[in-house]
Amino acid sequence: MKSDFSHYVPRPATLVAKKELNELVTLFEFVLDSGKPLAHRPGQFIQVSIYGVGEAPFSVSSPPRTDHNNFELVVRRIGSVTNSLHALQTGAKIGIRGPYGSYFPMQKFVGQDFLFVAGGLGYIPIRSVLHYMLRHRDEFGEITVLVGTRNPQERIFTDQLAEISRRKDVQVLETVDVPDDKWKGNVGVITTLFPKIRINTDTTSVATIGPPVMYKFVIQECTRLGIPQNRIYLSLERHMKCGVGKCGHCQINGVNCCLDGPVFCYTDIAGLGEAL
Ligand SMILES: Cc1cc2nc3c(=O)[nH]c(=O)nc-3n(C[C@H](O)[C@H](O)[C@H](O)COP(=O)(O)OP(=O)(O)OC[C@H]3O[C@@H](n4cnc5c(N)ncnc54)[C@H](O)[C@@H]3O)c2cc1C
Ligand code: FES
Repeated sequence: MKSDFSHYVPRPATLVAKKELNELVTLFEFVLDSGKPLAHRPGQFIQVSIYGVGEAPFSVSSPPRTDHNNFELVVRRIGSVTNSLHALQTGAKIGIRGPYGSYFPMQKFVGQDFLFVAGGLGYIPIRSVLHYMLRHRDEFGEITVLVGTRNPQERIFTDQLAEISRRKDVQVLETVDVPDDKWKGNVGVITTLFPKIRINTDTTSVATIGPPVMYKFVIQECTRLGIPQNRIYLSLERHMKCGVGKCGHCQINGVNCCLDGPVFCYTDIAGLGEAL
């Protein structure tokens, strides 16, 4: 693995902004103290150290940018590292290892139509790919975005998604499993949105990220539509420690999700069994 940073010494970064997206999920904007860009690709993750607490992997949610060096993480509070991250105030220091892992092959998608299928927090890494495409809009064909959440309270980036859905060149469809009194949209799991979309399956590639249980059903729908396995990409998140293929924590049947993934073309992992 060639990189211009150490895998053993986290690079210091500073929290420059934070914004609550819902009760448990917050958007964090960081910049490396070196002043260098993070230089990630859509779909990659970084290992974040909260000094004195521990380290955890997070997807980079912002697209690679050339106009400034800030990058965004979106984090759900669940345990010690994520709660400590949420408690940080602007100006706080963290450590960064990475970016690590495989990424969505954006050059391969040039000229193609694209279908995003994001379940829950799967929208976090999908957002990096989607916003990359929106920033290079002329290079890609039709874009369709399906977003599913358990309930309206857990939706994230509602304003951004509303703004994107007003564009004429992107189709956005949302669903929730369980509605509240105010919800006027689709109700049901994310695959209930498939009959509502019109896509050219000869020219469409798919990026899907969500809870493991979702993949089986999304892949079934894609297959039913006639989208071949080699045009379906997904991300497999597993418990990770080292992030660089040394500890084995993230293995599924010999595949290191940190090194060979997290982004996989379905063709390469269709035989992994329990994972899908
Ligand atoms: C490649 C990758 C990218 C990720 N991207 C994001 C992201 O963008 N935003 C985000 O909020 N989270 C993301 N996660 C999950 C995140 O890493 C975990 O939530 C985090 O490690 C929890 O750390 P903690 O110390 O707060 O919780 P802990 O105290 O370690 O654990 C609390 C609970 O969370 C469970 N848990 C810990 N790690 C994971 C995991 N990897 N998957 C499922 N459950 C876990 C534990 O089993 C336990 O029940 C990602 C994970 C991976 C592998
Ligand atoms: S996290 Fe250590 S091998 Fe993948």
